[in-house]
Amino acid sequence: MAENPAVKLGVLISGTGTNLQAIIDAIRRGDLKAEIRIVISNRADAQGLERARRHGVETAVIDHRKFASREDFDCAVLAALRERSVELVALAGFMRLLSSVMLDAFPGRIMNIHNSLLPSFPGIHGPKDAIEYGVKLAGCTVFFVTPGVDVGPVIIQAAVPVLPGDDEDRLAARILQQEHRIFPQAIAFFQQGRLEIQGRRVVVKGDSAQPNSAPIVNPPIE
Ligand code: GRF
Repeated sequence: MAENPAVKLGVLISGTGTNLQAIIDAIRRGDLKAEIRIVISNRADAQGLERARRHGVETAVIDHRKFASREDFDCAVLAALRERSVELVALAGFMRLLSSVMLDAFPGRIMNIHNSLLPSFPGIHGPKDAIEYGVKLAGCTVFFVTPGVDVGPVIIQAAVPVLPGDDEDRLAARILQQEHRIFPQAIAFFQQGRLEIQGRRVVVKGDSAQPNSAPIVNPPIE
């Protein structure tokens, strides 16, 4: 069977860009067949821009403060993505809500990463909220973006135990390590044509039912 071509990615960031780095590294290792056509940041000082440049990836800064509305900002982002024939949009620490302008243009083709086991602890303080609630398992989630905050169909999750003495930073750092595994993996599933959205559920085709191993990652990742 012919292999699928590399997926043309647009990555949206606002900050450090370690998830962007994980995607770049996965491509370089040959674990992910993708081409990052552009990295767009809404902030000029996002560290992730430098990571992209260092790897020869085109970058653009589109400052949301220069637009009268969320929709106008999204139109500018959409134009940049379309100009580069982007097929899949990865939100990698992108701190803006998307409007219907983007969601309608890329149905089932925008992925986000969040540092909690959704639907628990949506919003910007996932690890802190998990500690304060007292859960024993925290983690991260890759999901397809739909209207609303952190509510779309779940693609992959990884669970990370909350350890005695954890504070927000320590837990967030361990969760981040798992984010770096599952985000490239979710994009690889997409590139391989293995993701099928069935209502709220995402079926990973060809997924073999293996026992989970620590850290718990579902679906299991080899
Ligand atoms: C990650 O923790 C992600 O879950 C959240 O924002 C953070 C981005 O980190 N959405 P980075 O910019 O990829 O380093």
